Amino acid sequence: MNVLLLGSGGREHALAWKLAQSPSLDTLYAAPGNPGIAAHATCVALDATDHGAVVEFVRGHAVELVVIGPEAPLVDGLGDSLRAAGVRVFGPDKAAAQLEGSKGFTKDLCRRADIPTAGYVRVASRAEAEAALAGTFSYPVVIKADGLAAGKGVVIATSEAEAAGAFDAMFAGGDAPVVLEEFLDGEEASLFVLTDGTALLPFGSAQDHKRVGEGDTGPNTGGMGAYSPAPVLTAALEARAIAEIVAPTVKALAEDGTPFSGVLYAGLMLTATGPKLIEYNARFGDPECQVLMLRFQGDLLALMLAVAEGRLAEFGDAHFADDVAMTVVVAAAGYPGTPRAGGAIRGIDRAEAGGAVVFQAGTRQAGETLVAAGGRVLAVTAGGPDIRAARDAAYRGVDAIDFADGFCRRDIGWRELAR
Ligand code: AMP
Ligand code: GLY
Repeated sequence: MNVLLLGSGGREHALAWKLAQSPSLDTLYAAPGNPGIAAHATCVALDATDHGAVVEFVRGHAVELVVIGPEAPLVDGLGDSLRAAGVRVFGPDKAAAQLEGSKGFTKDLCRRADIPTAGYVRVASRAEAEAALAGTFSYPVVIKADGLAAGKGVVIATSEAEAAGAFDAMFAGGDAPVVLEEFLDGEEASLFVLTDGTALLPFGSAQDHKRVGEGDTGPNTGGMGAYSPAPVLTAALEARAIAEIVAPTVKALAEDGTPFSGVLYAGLMLTATGPKLIEYNARFGDPECQVLMLRFQGDLLALMLAVAEGRLAEFGDAHFADDVAMTVVVAAAGYPGTPRAGGAIRGIDRAEAGGAVVFQAGTRQAGETLVAAGGRVLAVTAGGPDIRAARDAAYRGVDAIDFADGFCRRDIGWRELAR
């Protein structure tokens, strides 16, 4: 079977690495891919916003499954265009991808289906936001831009002055959809569940580190490292999150005639009264996908095909190694601001010979040399019988790599290590 994978990050390198292990794979195409993905796939230049061009490529290359890695093409309706052309797709349609594309959509669905989440108000202008704040909320209050914001659209304001500052930014261009939320207290964990719109298959848990600095300080990033599983999400809490949050979401979307097909990534807050939904993503996390793929023991292509064809109920459980996996992101100096491009990267083979798997995120081949071409550059990933062993193996990998322009956090997994 020929497969087309869309995307170019560390998440897609991990998916390509795992898809390449499938016995039923013939040719894997990746668009645009990256030098790491090129070890497993034929990389092609395709503009994912040009749906007609993607359909034409699929037809011309006998592609039987398209795997959409990032959120933007999902929210843009590429899944709809491919399905309309009779192509199997891993990833939801535009309507169901609103779970990630619009925070207001998700909050309204939670209210309707009685799903535990933070109390909220949707507003459309600064005047409405100020009125809602005065009437309903205490501090801290969480202020969110409604659309896709790559993790940068959330402000936790602890005072009226901080809220006013957030409003200055969010309403700088005039009226805009914004969600105000009650602040939830607890530890965050991520739960992944595959669904074909009806059946659910739990697909592992993880915790990531969103802040750029050690001790979880400094600006938010896409994620500086992650580990799986997340023991804080016990089997009992996971079962509760599925029963109270994920299952009612899947059911509500199906009843609306817009079933969700793909992977649901639930960002949970584990509060004193149980798991509550912080947000949904309509795709795998990056770098959470890297640790999930290292642990997943099954045939990813067969599983994705079962999701795409609505046959997930036949599939049984997903098997994961008992090992703990950790990934440490190596970013280019300047990230999450303007990352320095072009820094030479050497020693990936040395890191891999030592047992790590190095997934490439923002890299480019410049002649013979691999160089940095993005904020997050590498995700150095390793497993071990416990979190300490996984951590040691991942950092051994990091230390084998020579990338003078790069930096990483040295404390990935600190919460779990402290426990
Ligand atoms: P989001 O983009 O909705 O995932 O928000 C980004 C981050 O902001 C989350 O990972 C949380 O750390 C934090 N956050 C979002 N909503 C809340 C909330 N209601 N209470 C506490 N923290 C939140
Ligand atoms: N690592 C967070 C995300 O993928 O959204």
